[in-house]
Amino acid sequence: MSNLPLFSGASAEFWLRWFHTFFGILWIGHLYYFNFSQMGFMSEADAATKSVVFQKLTPRTMKYFRYGALFTFLTGWGMIGHKMGAMGIPATSAWGTVILTGGLIGTLMFLNVWLIIWPANKLIIENAVRTSKGESALPGIADLASRAAIASRTNTLFSVPMLFFMTAASHLSVTLSDQASLVPYWSVFTILIGAIEFNAIKGKMGLLQKMAHVIHFGLLVTILLYLAMAFLAG
Ligand code: HEM
Repeated sequence: MSNLPLFSGASAEFWLRWFHTFFGILWIGHLYYFNFSQMGFMSEADAATKSVVFQKLTPRTMKYFRYGALFTFLTGWGMIGHKMGAMGIPATSAWGTVILTGGLIGTLMFLNVWLIIWPANKLIIENAVRTSKGESALPGIADLASRAAIASRTNTLFSVPMLFFMTAASHLSVTLSDQASLVPYWSVFTILIGAIEFNAIKGKMGLLQKMAHVIHFGLLVTILLYLAMAFLAG
């Protein structure tokens, strides 16, 4: 097998990339199912149907969703470590700037899954099991459900620029000026992405309720970041 390129040491990054894309689909596939299909269905379902969904479906979807997120995150940073560490590509290069833009947005999405969406859903599942047995409901479930929904909508918004920069890193020609500082670009990134993440943690659903708005905002953020990179660092 040593004469097959796939099994040579030089293919380590390829394996990471393959697994990364597999787990990325597993994760974002579930995210899109929740946001494009399930949330609308749940807003029309009666209490008994919701209870069955929370008890029987949510534990399954949440398992593949959160572990998909974990392995996407690990393989993604594995590739960054390989390219920046072993291959010595600088974080300040055009590739480094583009992949860190996508990778940092992806990392925030991963944190939203493990620190907001999953802990809330764990309690929502527990609450559905308790109430189906006639036990008292857990306090604050409605607030938790709405916080998880805002974080989930935010991740759908973030997925648009995240995938743009992720796939642009090696497939879109981006040139940065040797003279330009990257501080203005990363400042715009921090303010823009930080404001959207702040809304996920503390803010309201507002315009994120409608999926068309979420996708349009995602496209707007993508264009703003692309222009900021081209004009402030290019
Ligand atoms: C969680 C944080 C993430 C990090 C740190 C990360 C990092 C990376 C890195 C370093 C690459 C290699 C890029 C290159 O060689 O030019 C990559 C490629 C890729 N990533 Fe991610 N990623 C993350 C999340 C995601 C997610 C959620 C998806 C969703 C599907 C995704 C989809 C892809 C795809 C399709 C590629 C292949 C791009 C190509 O070959 O051009 N990534 N990612």
